[in-house]
Amino acid sequence: MDHVDVKRLFFEHFSSLKHKKLPDVPLIPPEHDTSSLFINSGMQPLKPLFMGLQKPPASRLYNSQKCVRTGDIDDVGDNKHLTFFFMLGNWSIGDYGVTEAAQFAYDLLVKKYGMNKNKLWATVFKGDKKLGLGRDDNMFAAWQKIGIPRERIFLADAEEVFWVSGKTGPCGPTSEMHYDFGASKGCGKKSCNPTCDCGRFMEIWNPCVQISYNRNAAGKLTSLKLKSIDAGAGFERIVGVLQGTNDVFTTTIFKPLIQQIEKLSSKNYTHNKKAMRIVADHVRASTFIAGEGVTPARKDQGYVLRRIIRRMVRYSKQLGIDRSGIKQLVRFVIDDFKKEYPYLQRNSKQIAGIIGNEYDNFNKTLEKGSRLLAQLMQTTKGKTLRGVDVFHLYDTYGFPMELTRELAAEKGFKIDENGYEREFAKHREVSKKGQSKKFVSGLADHSEMVIKYHTVNHMLLSALQKVLGPKVTQKGSNLTAERLRFDFNWGEKMTPEQLKKSEDIVNKWIKQDVPVTMEEMSVADAKKAGAQGVFTHKYGAKVKVYTIKGISKEICLGPHVNKTGVLGQFKIVKEKSSSAGVRRIKAVLE
Ligand code: SER
Repeated sequence: MDHVDVKRLFFEHFSSLKHKKLPDVPLIPPEHDTSSLFINSGMQPLKPLFMGLQKPPASRLYNSQKCVRTGDIDDVGDNKHLTFFFMLGNWSIGDYGVTEAAQFAYDLLVKKYGMNKNKLWATVFKGDKKLGLGRDDNMFAAWQKIGIPRERIFLADAEEVFWVSGKTGPCGPTSEMHYDFGASKGCGKKSCNPTCDCGRFMEIWNPCVQISYNRNAAGKLTSLKLKSIDAGAGFERIVGVLQGTNDVFTTTIFKPLIQQIEKLSSKNYTHNKKAMRIVADHVRASTFIAGEGVTPARKDQGYVLRRIIRRMVRYSKQLGIDRSGIKQLVRFVIDDFKKEYPYLQRNSKQIAGIIGNEYDNFNKTLEKGSRLLAQLMQTTKGKTLRGVDVFHLYDTYGFPMELTRELAAEKGFKIDENGYEREFAKHREVSKKGQSKKFVSGLADHSEMVIKYHTVNHMLLSALQKVLGPKVTQKGSNLTAERLRFDFNWGEKMTPEQLKKSEDIVNKWIKQDVPVTMEEMSVADAKKAGAQGVFTHKYGAKVKVYTIKGISKEICLGPHVNKTGVLGQFKIVKEKSSSAGVRRIKAVLE
């Protein structure tokens, strides 16, 4: 069965069971959801519904949601792990319970997809003293009634079958469905069961998460009023089973991309599985992440993107694929998905720019860094690389710690991760001090011109957001009486049209002679009011929020002009790269 039909039948099945379709949301979670850097399951955007904080559009829902799981980056390279994948989800918000949910899943797999029912196993929660929960007898009975015999139901512990979407939040015991590829594919041990990672079993569906509790930061569970069901199926894995393979990279989903990689490298998948799987998964992940305007950076989503791109570059070089090859692969992924995700096509230049830039940055130091790493492994006594050396590789050669760890492991070395973290923290402290010094001196000059540049700085940010998109944020600024210098996240050179447009917008706003006002409020209120600012900064109890009516609202120390009409003529004189993924504009007021 082709993967397109697998998805279509899933949609038809749940639609016929009176479920309503939900849209697939962006990978970057909304600001209030800090539980993960990326959407990592179909249920994540639905948390307010489960908690009774928001009214659901219907009590039965389904969709296909793109997800990124950062915890799996290092596992990509085997037959089934992906950082970027699609989850087919269905939900009961206070509607049906586990028996129906299990039946729905079983019917689709066996009756509609025609999966061999004798190969299906289920895991059931065996209870947990610490959580104060007993064995899930209800679920155990349900599977037997549906048609999974006792000997293929495995009682598993909380680590396997108690599901929470993050450290905190809606959660509950679950029961997973696994496909048995046969003892010959696995470890051969008598004790082998669906929780074994040997390759015999593949988890394909998590159809019955009983969302009955909310977990707080201390790990305590409180009962939720609504009793709901969260279900998620791994699209790529189900397709694998239906196409008779436990290697998701040989399914119709990945085959064309793998063939493209084979063509570009003139190598064969069979002999280069690990590298080709990494390149295939990472090119999809980085295309989608960059497609949402994320640029490589030293932390958060930007750091994940950097890690993924750099790992991809490392393995593509091993295959003999160069920069233009990577570019072709990015194009291939965009073409593959542009019908369903038209923004990939719209942002295709930007995506290519972001990935290309990161490629260049890493390429510059990759060889030297690799040589240094090889040397370190030769000269280190013992088998553990020092934290300070791993940090040096990161800071000077751009080797993400995780990449060094992986490369070192290939030669039987470990790295001192704690030592690395200590170096990292030390360095951050030093650079923070440097920054705050700069900040103070920047503000020392309150001449009339500097104040004017300060106001137009806010207007420029807003204009860039209009022209390039709302993901643009300020990465730094420096004001003198002669000019402003403004850094912002953007992966490629701005076009002359974009520059002209931004300049025109600012000049239009200046002409409109808009009032600039200031209000003091708490950080929470500033956030609520939609003010921009770096909320991870430590602000005092009260902050100043400057509003340029209809144009901008920002947390800022000021001072500013009272009306934009006094600013004169705004002119962008230069636009250039400042660092990886950051552009710099120099502009003057005439
Ligand atoms: N949230 C569960 C999972 O991700 C089921 O959708 O496995």
